Amino acid sequence: MPTALAPTKHSFATRLAHIGLALAVLTQLGTSQVMEPVEPGSAGNAFFTLHEYAGLAAFAFVLGFWMAATFRRRGTAWGLLLPWFSGARLAALWADSKAHLGSLTRFRIPVYDAQSPLASAVHGLGLLLMTAMAGTGTVYYAINAGNPDAGGLVGLVMFVHTSLANLVWAYLIGHGTLALIHHFTQNLDLREMWSLSRDGTTGGSAN
Ligand code: HEM
Ligand code: HEM
Repeated sequence: MPTALAPTKHSFATRLAHIGLALAVLTQLGTSQVMEPVEPGSAGNAFFTLHEYAGLAAFAFVLGFWMAATFRRRGTAWGLLLPWFSGARLAALWADSKAHLGSLTRFRIPVYDAQSPLASAVHGLGLLLMTAMAGTGTVYYAINAGNPDAGGLVGLVMFVHTSLANLVWAYLIGHGTLALIHHFTQNLDLREMWSLSRDGTTGGSAN
């Protein structure tokens, strides 16, 4: 399997975008439980204002993530995050998925690999999901007239936004839980991905 980029640490730009995006998404899920959107007869509440501004920040961080993934010199290769356009990548994803399933049916934690085709493909889908959420929210912010239930384009982007909302919960729970399991089984060190030092907590250099 060709890997264009070094398989080791995440670059500073990747870590910065990841921390910002993860914190923004946590804010979005939290506020979505208590907010009252602006609509005819209701001025909305402060949690909705926070949802709007943290959502716009999420949009900036998700764009930053795409930029970091495009221009970084080390980290996960694009072809691993988005394997859907290459037969060789899809074959590797299928083989890795079968290996993971084999481990799980033997009640074993799958072997950790930072360049796993399955994990990377799921990370890529997560990035696409957050892009869709932040993108539809931002379009809503730009064109709405104070009513998320309005028809037309406002209705369409809010339909997509609310339809994908439960997938965001699923991604956060699945990805966060696996990260914690791998941290406590010493497969990775969470402090590396969550570090804002230029070279990462665990040493080495980043671009
Ligand atoms: C819902 C918000 C989140 C999103 C959208 C997200 C997205 C991503 C993406 C796209 C990657 C792959 C980065 C790359 O390879 O370039 C990644 C890696 C990672 N994430 Fe998250 N993440 C989120 C929340 C979290 C949380 C809450 C944790 C910790 C509990 C976490 C821990 C990690 C770790 C440790 C890695 C590196 C995995 C490795 O190197 O093998 N993430 N995340
Ligand atoms: C990654 C970014 C975002 C995430 C994860 C997110 C998440 C959510 C969630 C979970 C809901 C509740 C859906 C439901 O219960 O049916 C929601 C609703 C909503 N969001 Fe976002 N959001 C994001 C960005 C934005 C942005 C940027 C805006 C606008 C500036 C926005 C505006 C709204 C509105 C107006 C609703 C209410 C829709 C309704 O109840 O009619 N969101 N969002």
